Amino acid sequence: MSREAIIAALNHHLRAELSAVEIYAAHARAIAEPAIAQGVQAILLVEERHARDLAARIRALGGEPVEPGGPETVAGRAAAAATQRATTVGMLRLELAEEQQAIKDYAAHLADLMLDEETHDLLEQNLADELQHARWLKAQIAALGK
Ligand SMILES: [Fe+2]
Ligand SMILES: [Fe+2]
Repeated sequence: MSREAIIAALNHHLRAELSAVEIYAAHARAIAEPAIAQGVQAILLVEERHARDLAARIRALGGEPVEPGGPETVAGRAAAAATQRATTVGMLRLELAEEQQAIKDYAAHLADLMLDEETHDLLEQNLADELQHARWLKAQIAALGK
């Protein structure tokens, strides 16, 4: 992968993280069950860290990170608003779908990445976090009997 291709892929991940931040922030406020809302809030902090780390890596590679407030933020807010009135399990399902896509995107990028140890470490860390998030969400959905 060229440096430009790596930067483009990192910005793709960053857009997804910015969207996830909007969704988790809205759902943390909307979910009525305190234990689940707390778990969602904890995930939100991790997604914010992912966005910060990706932006920093893009800058270190000489690229320009996409800024919050762009189309992804708007799309994330719209998705969050649409599901905020849904049931808790409806919100968790949307979150899980986002995590599943992020897992596939990070894994695909890791598979293609050559000779960039710092980017590799970052992608690997983020992938491990998303796997953990997906696992927790699946357990919550199962516990709600869905
Ligand atoms: Fe993330
Ligand atoms: Fe996640």
